[in-house]
Amino acid sequence: MYYPEDLVEEVRTRNNIVDVIGSYVRLQKKGSSYFGLCPFHSEKSPSFSVSPNKQMYYCFGCGVGGNVITFLMEYENYTFPEALKVLAERAGVALPEAELTDEEKRNNNTRHVLLDIHKDAAMFYYKALYTPYGKNALDYLTNRGLSPETIRQFGLGFAPSTSDSLYNYLKKKGYSDQDMKASGIFRFSEKGPYDIFWNRVMYPIMDVNNKVIAFGGRVMGKGEPKYLNSPETKIFDKSRNLYGLHAAKKSRRDYFLICEGYMDVISLHQAGFTNAVAALGTAFTSNHCSVIRRYVKKVVLTFDSDGAGIKAALRAIPILRTGGLEISVLTMKPYKDPDEFIKALGPEEYQKRIDAAQNAFLFEVTCLREKYNLSDPADKTNFVDEVAKMLLIFEDEIERTNYMEAVCKQEKIDYADMKKKVNKLGSRIVPGANNSYDAPRANNRTKEKEEGAAKTERLLLTWISEEPKVYSKIEGIIDPSDFSSELYRKVAERIFEQAKEGSVNPGQIISSFINDEEDYKKASALFQMDRPKEMNSLDKSKAFTEAVKRIKKSSLEKKGASADPSELMNIIIAKRKLETLKITLE
Ligand code: UTP
Ligand code: MN
Repeated sequence: MYYPEDLVEEVRTRNNIVDVIGSYVRLQKKGSSYFGLCPFHSEKSPSFSVSPNKQMYYCFGCGVGGNVITFLMEYENYTFPEALKVLAERAGVALPEAELTDEEKRNNNTRHVLLDIHKDAAMFYYKALYTPYGKNALDYLTNRGLSPETIRQFGLGFAPSTSDSLYNYLKKKGYSDQDMKASGIFRFSEKGPYDIFWNRVMYPIMDVNNKVIAFGGRVMGKGEPKYLNSPETKIFDKSRNLYGLHAAKKSRRDYFLICEGYMDVISLHQAGFTNAVAALGTAFTSNHCSVIRRYVKKVVLTFDSDGAGIKAALRAIPILRTGGLEISVLTMKPYKDPDEFIKALGPEEYQKRIDAAQNAFLFEVTCLREKYNLSDPADKTNFVDEVAKMLLIFEDEIERTNYMEAVCKQEKIDYADMKKKVNKLGSRIVPGANNSYDAPRANNRTKEKEEGAAKTERLLLTWISEEPKVYSKIEGIIDPSDFSSELYRKVAERIFEQAKEGSVNPGQIISSFINDEEDYKKASALFQMDRPKEMNSLDKSKAFTEAVKRIKKSSLEKKGASADPSELMNIIIAKRKLETLKITLE
């Protein structure tokens, strides 16, 4: 997909970001910016800012940021072309259709047709639930305690017992066999096409924008498999989608409840826990984690109390942990699942279990302990050894110490003994380190240093973009190649170019990074540094000079490391000159 840059620019500038975001988020003016509750994570006081001058948004809470196009991409889950199209229409800018390659057009069309097929299919199943032959299914749902309102809200339905009723229904609506094949909900055999779902209660699976993208179907009575799910298609990626997310994203709590299946999600939502989601008959993936992290940083696992549920939790924890989520696990004992628990004890008791949920690491240790006979000294030693090994996943020393304390308390293990064990193990797996297991700390230090350098670079770039005339002060001293990452070099180049012309347009600059999600996030964060505004001009000059010196010095050092002797001479001279640099801002 290619749209010329100036066209993208026209669409962007003709859509005022305050108006567009204002139609999604209640914004209030504060100084030169607008603030509101961030739509990308849950919060109680507004840290989401929209700047009319920069034509950008940024959340000081969760770090999302971008321009009017990326906002729609994030909020509506649109692709770049989709977001552009909506904004072009909104502003009355004509987009050339011919810009699409044939393949892209086909792809786009297929996506739309597949969404239409699913919408029609969901309606077909939904209506079937209220016909005489859907009565059993409706009774089943009602007997499981779902209210008519819940059934409606989740769009539950029924797939009739005949094997081709949906096929015939959609055929009459004009869909082609090819598109129906691509939808994944039909099979084509020698005997002809048939529906993959029949005689099942139907759970439409929705994406974050409430569009039906797949189905799960539960067999009526006995039969295998109990739950049948749509296969992956152009519109259904199991590794990204979570059941219930379309509602959970609006729940405004700072954690998600993660449960095992459709029924758990639905009964939790009905009981008021609208932050419940489930993976769809697959393991958790890092993609699920990134999706979750857009809304919350914490999850509480509420898996079945039986062996299978515990196994599933133990499988999910490491993935969620690597995915950057804070995890705890609640117990519903003596009940089997959220549904049973809430039916028996009610939502208040369930909330108490949430509040008392066990830290995931301690849960892992608890599960491990059950495999040992702790009255046997040899077994007990093995258990303690195993726990010591587990503690090594915590690289940060303070964090590890905290966990060590907690786990020793829980398992009644002597803290000093455990510490000795952990340090010994740590030194064994980290070559060169002594007993104190300090390699990760060293790592953190380089990380901190890099982060410090990047921060200074961001400060300078923000400064110049907000006050382009200061660029003249660094012209000839700093050039884009002095920045430490490829991305910053690219941004610097554009900022410098525009600063020379007299004004910098951050919204436009980050537009050019739109095709790479990571890059545009970093690029937009880059414009959000708070530069010192309230300082007097002397202090300001000092701060500015300091930043310039720091960036140049580290750049010269880097260049020096790989320079040949003649270049090295120049670098040394430049470094010396730098020491006496003094920039005066007025
Ligand atoms: P369960 O077997 O625990 O089902 O599977 P459940 O949610 O308790 O269902 P009910 O209460 O008997 O109706 C948990 C989840 O695992 C997936 C489904 O997402 C299900 O909700 N699953 C289960 C499948 O995908 N296929 C199966 O055959 C079984
Ligand atoms: Mn279950």
